[in-house]
Amino acid sequence: MCGIVGYIGENKARPVLISGIKRLEYRGYDSAGIAVIKDNGIICEKSVGQICELEKKINGKFDKSTMGIIHTRWATHGAPTVENAHPHFDCSGKIAIVHNGIIENYNYLKAKLEKEGHNFKSETDSEVIAHLIESHFEETLEDAVRRALKEVEGAYGLAIISLDDPGKLIAARHGSQLIVGIGKKEHFITSDVAAILEYTKNVVYLDDNEIAVLTRDNMKTTDVDNVQISKRIDEIQWNLDKIEKSGYKHFMLKEIHEQPQALRDSMLGRYEKDNNLVHLGGLKDKENVLRNIRRIIIVACGTSWHAGLIGEYMIEEHLGIPVEVEYASEFRYRNPVIEEDTMVVAISQSGETADTLAAIREASKKGAIILSICNVVGSSIAREADCGIFLHAGPEIGVASTKAFTSQIAVIFLLTLFLARIRGNREVLSNDMASKLKEIPKQVQKILDREDQIIKIAQLYKDNGNFLYLGRGYNYPVALEGALKLKEISYIHAEGYPAAEMKHGPIALIDKNMPVVFIATTDKVYSKILSNIEEVRTRGGKVIAIASESNNEISKLVDHVFYIPETIDALTPILSVIPLQLLAYQMAVMRRCDVDKPRNLAKSVTVE
Ligand code: F6R
Repeated sequence: MCGIVGYIGENKARPVLISGIKRLEYRGYDSAGIAVIKDNGIICEKSVGQICELEKKINGKFDKSTMGIIHTRWATHGAPTVENAHPHFDCSGKIAIVHNGIIENYNYLKAKLEKEGHNFKSETDSEVIAHLIESHFEETLEDAVRRALKEVEGAYGLAIISLDDPGKLIAARHGSQLIVGIGKKEHFITSDVAAILEYTKNVVYLDDNEIAVLTRDNMKTTDVDNVQISKRIDEIQWNLDKIEKSGYKHFMLKEIHEQPQALRDSMLGRYEKDNNLVHLGGLKDKENVLRNIRRIIIVACGTSWHAGLIGEYMIEEHLGIPVEVEYASEFRYRNPVIEEDTMVVAISQSGETADTLAAIREASKKGAIILSICNVVGSSIAREADCGIFLHAGPEIGVASTKAFTSQIAVIFLLTLFLARIRGNREVLSNDMASKLKEIPKQVQKILDREDQIIKIAQLYKDNGNFLYLGRGYNYPVALEGALKLKEISYIHAEGYPAAEMKHGPIALIDKNMPVVFIATTDKVYSKILSNIEEVRTRGGKVIAIASESNNEISKLVDHVFYIPETIDALTPILSVIPLQLLAYQMAVMRRCDVDKPRNLAKSVTVE
């Protein structure tokens, strides 16, 4: 999704802007552009495609400037063309803006501005902002921005510069994450801290309706009515190596291999010393409310929604609280019933997914308590929720989610144990569930150490056009996740189903050209899944099974088996998904796909 970086300071702007925006490449984009103020003019370049195309166009002219803005665009209004790429300008060419988000009333604003004589050069919604600021310009850029934003409906994260008020970089936020970085005699604007971590760890997270006026030495934050707001400076807790490949060929592979550590980090400081009682700092103040909730609705999208489905099985099985899992995009547009004692849990790696954010706003209006499970600290969902749990998985750069998914499952498990403690659920507390999670990181490592077995399977099937993934119980969401991983990075068509549903349609597809991945661990529904395997075998389908280590019968029934260590049913998905992540990754690499940046996809989907 779109990325923004802005810089003002005593250093050269170009290297800061280029290196920063490159760190946001993982979010997905289709064009890019840069504008810097130099001497008495603004110079700008834009290009379609990768940032390296933009770099080719930038020449020595850009070198002397010490302030500027840069953007990567992911097309929503208007095709990915040079004209539609940001920065956008007003008629005079003196105001340049970059924008993340969507201006919902842009048609109205554009018509009004055109009537006033403004000329538009692009098909984007974003360009109206530059013209609107121009139409309001009297003395200072910040006053013009404030007046303009009062007319705007929709979401924006904005970085703005102007020749008529040079020496100022302006940031404005409403519904689209924007962060100010504070350095020595320099300030940064970014939509993602990864872009500026190389330069500073001190950041200010802007809230909705806030505007920051940045000069080399100062920062002033106000709301749109010019009321001054004092902001806290936060310190980023992770280092640059977390966002570099560290010798791995792709971020996705690095992140798959980081899972043992990410899982350890998700547990860190959350178990009481010498026992298995769970405490979650982000929920501490809400224990009284959480003790009495009687219904849970989980809202999420994509992979996070799959983690939510696992949460439904876990919480219902162990706590007996009714749970529903909804696509956030559906939840927000129907009229969901929220009772007084309903808790809405939002799961989101990025914490910025537009539909999930809108869903919690809707639920909050209706009186639900909102609990967030996010990875990105300071993200919108985490900040708007009433309470929350962070994954602590470290930055996830690969577009396909891997370590966030397994950490989400671990955190939902911790939430289950936490709720069991505060609600006095003796059964959960007295069995050894809690200690099972502590064994998981080592078990994940054991699977990763056998990656070569997955490579062999991938070599055999990499040219297949279709795949079916089947699982039951806790492994049904894993089947969905395995299929999603494969299709999004290798472009092989894949479907995930609850195994028993196969008979109700997909069985028609089974023949020798249809490989079927069964997640067939030895759990409550194992005998049922064996019959489903038989059904595929008798129709000539090839079967790849993910099975438990102690299973010595399954190898006779299937074409390939990958064994995983045993754990309790609720935690099995953390283990059973690892070979599926590796299978998808290996096949995508063999098919020469751009694994970290799959076509048409964005890391964080900040538009509907
Ligand atoms: C798939 C994937 C997406 C995200 C989805 C939600 O690998 O990454 O399906 O899971 O876009 O994103 P978050 O979790 O950031 O809300």
